[in-house]
Amino acid sequence: LDDVQRIVCVRVFLIGASGQLGTDLRPLLPADTVALDVPDIDVCDRDGLAQIMRSAAPGVVINCAAQTHVDGCEDAPEAAFAVNAIGAGHVAEVAAELGARVVYVSTDFVFGAAGAREAAYVEGDVPGPLSVYGASKLAGEHLTLAADPAALVVRTSGLYGHAGARGKGGNFVETMLRLAAEGKTELRVVADQCLSPTATAHCARQIVALVDAGARGVVHVAAADHCTWHAFASAVFALAGVDVVVHPIGSDEYPQRARRPRMSALRSERLADYGLAPCPPWREMLAEYLAARPMAP
Ligand SMILES: NC(=O)c1ccc[n+]([C@@H]2O[C@H](COP(=O)([O-])OP(=O)(O)OC[C@H]3O[C@@H](n4cnc5c(N)ncnc54)[C@H](OP(=O)(O)O)[C@@H]3O)[C@@H](O)[C@H]2O)c1
Repeated sequence: LDDVQRIVCVRVFLIGASGQLGTDLRPLLPADTVALDVPDIDVCDRDGLAQIMRSAAPGVVINCAAQTHVDGCEDAPEAAFAVNAIGAGHVAEVAAELGARVVYVSTDFVFGAAGAREAAYVEGDVPGPLSVYGASKLAGEHLTLAADPAALVVRTSGLYGHAGARGKGGNFVETMLRLAAEGKTELRVVADQCLSPTATAHCARQIVALVDAGARGVVHVAAADHCTWHAFASAVFALAGVDVVVHPIGSDEYPQRARRPRMSALRSERLADYGLAPCPPWREMLAEYLAARPMAP
């Protein structure tokens, strides 16, 4: 972390600071960072946002604010676009007015329309979202880069952090462990959707290192490898020493409101440009997360 803490020479403004990723970013940022979340800041309220940002006079703005409930976004597309797209545009426009660098955090769910693809997506691949959430985040990328062509857009995948995501009632790892604690001994989990599950602790470090390196444009930050949700759930129980049988099922056996990509794993061809390696393999990050879990037995 010594390297990444060079960011300290400018004031940082962090939005979405109470979310999973925002919570793990905070300790990596300088002491005078302004870190806010709803209800103290609302990216949909451009005037209020501009007033708060102006008074903070930031040099770097990191936007982690999002509507992240993928199925909820399907039911409320206006609210999803208001935060993930138009709100992101507000943040980037105000940052540009103030001469601050802006970072927008985006998602692997901007991909998926390529259908039968088997390889992980790299930065140069053409996005094609399948859901309102994915479309709203892709629009957020465009609006951010339109306001500031030098913006940094960090796409990540399957985030989980100890803070949990309020909008989702936790995260996938915590949901699996809660179901086990409630007495489930068998679970069915989809085995035909691939992702690069990434711990927010590692994603946060990479974001700070990228800012420090002056990175711009789209950069993928995710686990060095990928797996299915079924493999991920199985590893949660194996590593936590919990006896639950996880049955592999197809997406068609677990209908959800939003369509999800069969493949949304991310690989980076750009991290190396900034002297950075990908995050560790997913299993390694998961073991670390479980070992540091506040409620670990
Ligand atoms: N979670 C994932 O699996 C995943 C995967 C890939 C990429 N991402 C992206 O990574 C970023 C961080 O995700 P995360 O998991 O840390 O999400 P999170 O825990 O849901 O954090 C997002 C934060 O933004 C806040 N927020 C919502 N609407 C807002 C508004 N109008 N103004 C200001 N703040 C607002 C949320 O508050 P409330 O909770 O009260 O709504 C929440 O505290 C997001 O951009 C997300 O799209 C997430």
